[in-house]
Amino acid sequence: MGSSSIKIRELVKDAEPFLYQEFLLLRHHVLRLPIGMDLFAEDLTLENDHITFVAMSQNDVKGDAEGERVVGCVMLAPCRDDTESFQLRQMAVATDYQGQRLGAKLVEFAENYSKQVGKKKIILNGRKTAVPFYQKMNFKLVSEQEFIMSGIPHFAMEKIL
Ligand SMILES: CC(C)(COP(=O)(O)OP(=O)(O)OC[C@H]1O[C@@H](n2cnc3c(N)ncnc32)[C@H](O)[C@@H]1OP(=O)(O)O)[C@@H](O)C(=O)NCCC(=O)NCCS
Repeated sequence: MGSSSIKIRELVKDAEPFLYQEFLLLRHHVLRLPIGMDLFAEDLTLENDHITFVAMSQNDVKGDAEGERVVGCVMLAPCRDDTESFQLRQMAVATDYQGQRLGAKLVEFAENYSKQVGKKKIILNGRKTAVPFYQKMNFKLVSEQEFIMSGIPHFAMEKIL
């Protein structure tokens, strides 16, 4: 872990192509490689309508020339059949930043954004291993029934805003 301050903000793919690639690499390393998958084999154009938030660490020794590094991310996807909800997706914190409340701050940031644009609920499909994290953030299980997605157990969860 570097000694750095963290700033969470929206990332607009076309405006910051270099940071967008870093964001994809973070997702690949934290969410896909551990389950034997390749993010770059997926159709990422399906995410064109998503809103992306990144946590940037400033002045980190592992950072690029400007001293910034993407150390966390989360996306909000519009729900086709429910205009009052967002689906929270692609929640990831770099391994060397986990356990320092960065995940919690990213969820809070996404929640505040959702409220500001008038959404009433956030839904998500959480990995079984991450369910206790979402419960700490006051998400509730929609059902006790787990389901398999990307080869691993998940639970449907939601939070009324
Ligand atoms: C899950 C993840 C996003 C959590 O982010 P984080 O920054 O490590 O978590 P935080 O430090 O913000 O934790 C917030 C609270 O949740 C708890 N928590 C976090 N992960 C937990 C876990 N796996 N099991 C139990 N509790 C957990 C923390 O102890 C903390 O509790 P506290 O409020 O009592 O201190 C992160 O660990 C991660 O990226 N994991 C790998 C990818 C992943 O599973 N993503 C979710 C896919 S659905």
